[in-house]
Amino acid sequence: MKHWKIDDVAWDGFQPGHVDPALVPLVKAAAMVERNGTDYAIYLNNVFGDDPDFRQAVDHWAIEEVQHGDALGRWAMLADPAWDFMQAFDRYKAGYQVPLEATQSVRGSRTGELIARCMVETGTSSYYTALADSTSEPVLRQVCQLIAADEYRHFKLFYDHMRRYLGREHISFPRRLRIAAGRITESEDDELAFAYHCGNEPDSTPYDHRRCIGAYMGKAMSMYRFRHIERSMGMVFKSVGLTPRGRLSGLAAKLAWRLMRRRQRKMTADATRAA
Ligand SMILES: [Fe+2]
Ligand SMILES: [Fe+2]
Repeated sequence: MKHWKIDDVAWDGFQPGHVDPALVPLVKAAAMVERNGTDYAIYLNNVFGDDPDFRQAVDHWAIEEVQHGDALGRWAMLADPAWDFMQAFDRYKAGYQVPLEATQSVRGSRTGELIARCMVETGTSSYYTALADSTSEPVLRQVCQLIAADEYRHFKLFYDHMRRYLGREHISFPRRLRIAAGRITESEDDELAFAYHCGNEPDSTPYDHRRCIGAYMGKAMSMYRFRHIERSMGMVFKSVGLTPRGRLSGLAAKLAWRLMRRRQRKMTADATRAA
């Protein structure tokens, strides 16, 4: 059972006057990455081939991720009626591929795979919370709040399975930390940057990673407030087996906040230069 359906959203309450045009490209890019959840489900089904409980949970999870994409895509088409979500998504699918044929996790272990999934859900949970907090358009806010609640439940789902596998695989703390940090830095890879390109730039414009990730991250990072980072850091700490709301987590959040502000300025400058 899904926790909500697309028709539960009060679409009639859409207020064009409250749309921040700078947020629309982010929503378009996010819609495509979310809708691509079915590919991740195929990959996870392959990696966890002999674990029927987890496979069932993953199939359900993918249905929710696709719904996130469809809800964001629908909102983006309200904000920009000239935009064609399916056309943009087809372009994205044609150019970006998850390693579907893998039978082993690209993270080296199932525990590692699940830690990486926890990082993704930490990122999406905080992202949609930040997006909801930074828009005054009521439909986008409602959609983002519904999605953020799902993402937090997804985090808990992958976390619980991760604990189960950790008991068997005994992956060391430094290794878990490396996997977590590695997955966080991957947010600047092609997945989002290429989605930004397909959602916002014409076919005639060649894909440029630096320009696209700069444009995406420059704006996305500017929506965050310290409380979003503080909460995310707690989730990261929990995932690797550290106390989520202790002194160390607080210090790490302050450091991450400072680094993010600096990165946000660099990304914005990169995008401007590359454009
Ligand atoms: Fe999602
Ligand atoms: Fe999710």
